[in-house]
Order: sequence, then C-alpha cells, then structure tokens
Amino acid sequence: MESGLGIRNSKLREETIINPETGEKSVKMGGLTFPPRRVWMKTYGCQMNYHDSLRLLAHLKNLNFTKTEEIEEADMVLFNTCAIRDLANQKFYSHLGEMKHLKKKKGEKLVIGAGGCIAQTEGKHLVAKYRHLDFAFGTDVIDQINDMVFRTYSGDDRFAVNTWDRSSNFSIETKINHGTPQAFVNIIKGCDKYCTYCVVPYTRGRERSRKLVEVVEDVKKLVKYQDVQEVTLLGQNVNSYGKENGENLAQLLYELEKVEGLKLIRYTTSHPYDITDELIEAHGNLKKLSNHLHLPVQSGSASVLKRMNREYTPEHFLERLAKFREVNPNIVISTDIIAGFCNETQEEHQATLDLLTNAQFDFIYSYVYSERKNTRASGMDDFLTDDIRGERLREIQKHQLDLQLHIRKQMEGRTYRVLVEKEKTFKGETKWLGRTNCNRIIHFKGQPETNYKWHWVDLKVLDATALSCQGVLMKDLGTLV
Ligand code: SAH
Ligand code: SF4
Ligand code: F3S
Repeated sequence: MESGLGIRNSKLREETIINPETGEKSVKMGGLTFPPRRVWMKTYGCQMNYHDSLRLLAHLKNLNFTKTEEIEEADMVLFNTCAIRDLANQKFYSHLGEMKHLKKKKGEKLVIGAGGCIAQTEGKHLVAKYRHLDFAFGTDVIDQINDMVFRTYSGDDRFAVNTWDRSSNFSIETKINHGTPQAFVNIIKGCDKYCTYCVVPYTRGRERSRKLVEVVEDVKKLVKYQDVQEVTLLGQNVNSYGKENGENLAQLLYELEKVEGLKLIRYTTSHPYDITDELIEAHGNLKKLSNHLHLPVQSGSASVLKRMNREYTPEHFLERLAKFREVNPNIVISTDIIAGFCNETQEEHQATLDLLTNAQFDFIYSYVYSERKNTRASGMDDFLTDDIRGERLREIQKHQLDLQLHIRKQMEGRTYRVLVEKEKTFKGETKWLGRTNCNRIIHFKGQPETNYKWHWVDLKVLDATALSCQGVLMKDLGTLV
C-alpha cells in the first residue's frame, strides 16, 4: 500500500513527477495529471473528526494538494461534518448553502466535497439537494479520498459513498504533518453502546480495534521519527478497546509506558460501565499516564440513566471515581452532562445537581438534549419544553462553576509542570499558555525575548478562577527532545 495510511480498494496509485527545468511537482494518477492545488477544509465535531481531517490532508498531499486557510484561493473545499446535535447540523447546512455563491464565482473549477458523520447517513440526500456539492463520503472511506477526488476530476457524475469497511481487522498508521510533539492515535473505531439519544453508532458503525502490537509500533515510530512526546489514544469508547482480539486498554497502557522518549499518555472517551479494576490500578502504577480523565456521566439520576441505556447507576459511577482517587489522589475528572432528557422530572434534574456536588468535577461539557432522527429516544414520550431544558442547563452550569471555583482555588500556591502550546493576546496583554498533565491551562508571561513554544516549564499558580489560571515561571526545562 503506497500511502501507508489505510485500506484502499482501487488499483489506481499516485505517481509524483518533478519537472527537471522548473522544479514544479505534478502527480499522475490513472491518466490524469494533478498540478499543485489548494484545499480548504472545515471540521466540525469531536477529536475523531479532527483526526480524520488530518488523515484526509495526508492523503491529499499525495495528490498534490496543500492546505490553505483562505477559502477564496481554494481549488477544493472539504467539509468534515458532525451529526451529534441539531446545532452542529444547522451550522454545516448553512455553510454548505453559502458555498453556492463561491462556486458560481469560481465556476466548475471549484470542487466541493462533504464527509463525516452527516455524510455517512445523509450523503445521497445531500448530493441530491445541493447541486453545487460534487461528492459526499462517509466515515469509513476516509482512506479512499484520493480515489473520490480522482473520480470528480475525471468528470464522473456527482456521487455519494457511504460503504462500511467490512474487513475484520482495523489497521491503520497514524499520519501527522503538523510538526508538534502532541499526536492523536486512533485505537478503536465505531460504537456498540447504542445510548438511546445518540447517533454515533449509526454514523461510525460497529466497534473495531487495532491490534495492540500495531498501536505500540505506531507510537514508537511517532516518538522516534516525529519527536512526539504526548499521545492521546482516541475512540468513542476506548474502554471497549481490544475486546475482539482478547486485548484491553489497561494492557495497552502498560506497553506504552515502556516506550522510550514518550512522556505523557492520555485517552478519550471512556464509558463508565466498562472501567475495570485493572484499568483503575494502571492509574496508580503508571508514571506516564495523565492525571486527567474524561468520564462522561450524562445524568445523576438512575431512572434517566436507564432511559438513556447507559448501563450503570449513579452509585456505580461514584464508586469508580472513589477508586480512581484512592489509587491516584491527584487525578482530575471531567464529564459530559445532558440537560432535560426525555420526560426528565424536577427530581431527576435535582439528582444531576447532587451528583455534581458529590463528584467534584474539574470541568464539564453540558448540552441540552437534542432529538436525533432514528435514535430510540426520538420515539420516547417527552413533555419537556425547550425553555425548561434551557433553564436546567443554566442551573447545571451555574452550580458547576460554583464548585469549580472552589476546586480551582486549591491550585493557588502549587507548582505544575506544563507543556507550552502557544502565545495568546487577551485584552491587549500577550501571554504564553500551557497545559498541565491534568489538562488544566495555565497562562504566564515569561522572559520577553524567549520563545517557549513546546518547552516544558514549571509554573507556580498565583491566581485561579473557575475558568482561568495565572502562573509565574519557576523553571524552563526547554524542549526535552
Ligand atoms: N462516546 C462518548 C461521547 C460522544 S458524544 C461517551 O459515550 O461518553 C459527546 C457528548 O455529546 C456525549 O457525552 C453527550 O453528552 C453529548 N450528546 C450526544 N448525543 C446527544 C444528544 N442527542 N443531545 C445532546 N447531547 C448529546
Ligand atoms: Fe454515543 Fe453512547 Fe456510543 Fe458515547 S457510548 S458514542 S454516547 S452511543
Ligand atoms: Fe460528531 Fe461524529 Fe464525532 S457525530 S461528535 S463527529 S463521531
């Protein structure tokens, strides 16, 4: 496989040709010549989608495309879509609608494609409805992007591809081209959980894991050849990792701990039902494992969790948290909450507020329930109004901010090691921004002439609020590569 990225069925392959006189690169594929072109891309949704976008770009590079931030100079526009809530859908539909004008302006020269979760289930409908859309593609054909772009440039009619990759083995190689020490590594795709409110099992298909040895080799290569120091293992439910191969997440973490040069391991997203004792113990034993864990609970009410098909009770969730904190007292936990699920009573809502108090989350992502077509919840009785949902969401957020302020205040006076990511100007003041091992962001000023990007530094926290944290530089350890 030439690209080394993933499975491609087509026999066509890209061949790079450099003009000896001008030095200009062109690529030949199946009788077509691809001159240098620009692609503009918009990604919605979760880290899985951002990761897929990187893969798309890595493939397209083989077809002579480079990324542009200026949509006006693009030869091709690609959307990577998200279907999780209605708002995400609306944003994409309105953006796609606007593209009609750009296409008119640029004529047939502009190619427009839409991939990802909406395209998986709605691809055919999108192509039928939006005459300026050249092609749509689902979540399981990311590695065939060049074949689809080829079809479009060779004059094929507009088309949609939403086939599932039925091969029993999920095998890929991570490709990064952003030159940072942080990398996302996909370890499992799909989701078999079928929470009643969620579209993901329909947009991402069945769970399938990469083999443990393949992931370890992949990470070793990233560390050795790309100077990666921090990996985030990705999947919609990483706790199901390896089931079909007799492997599991804890085993993988123990193996990754041994990778020389790797400094920090994160993983997301976890499902509370599948958290094993072995995994919790790994958090006590492994030095490279992040002190942050994202563990979505969704609701604090046993009856709502049942209607959501989440498989655990609030008591089970809190018992797991207590165990994590027992093996690692520094662990920092965040969560997701859905406000106003179908027929949620005031008591059920109150149970969520109580759970927030008991669980002491470091931060939460919270959303109002959004009905998704074809999910089981879409057929449930629901007497709640949008107003009530909105009110409950605000109440949840306010309560969490009060708790969060108290938790974050405890950071004051303590020193944290952070990996510096970037500089940011806020209200006219420029500061550096770094992320702690436990995933909190700390701002600091540093020395005026020094570029701290990707340095590891020790910062003492001077001032913390519920949402931001200011520190002072104690020690600069440099890039550590
Ligand atoms: N696999 C992860 C979450 C993926 S989706 C897990 O199981 O935890 C990210 C978050 O979006 C979910 O945790 C949930 O809080 C939210 N979400 C999913 N479907 C939703 C819906 N229909 N309405 C509102 N929020 C939703
Ligand atoms: Fe959706 Fe539930 Fe799967 Fe998470 S575990 S992706 S919420 S179905
Ligand atoms: Fe959205 Fe698909 Fe991710 S629906 S949240 S992009 S898996």
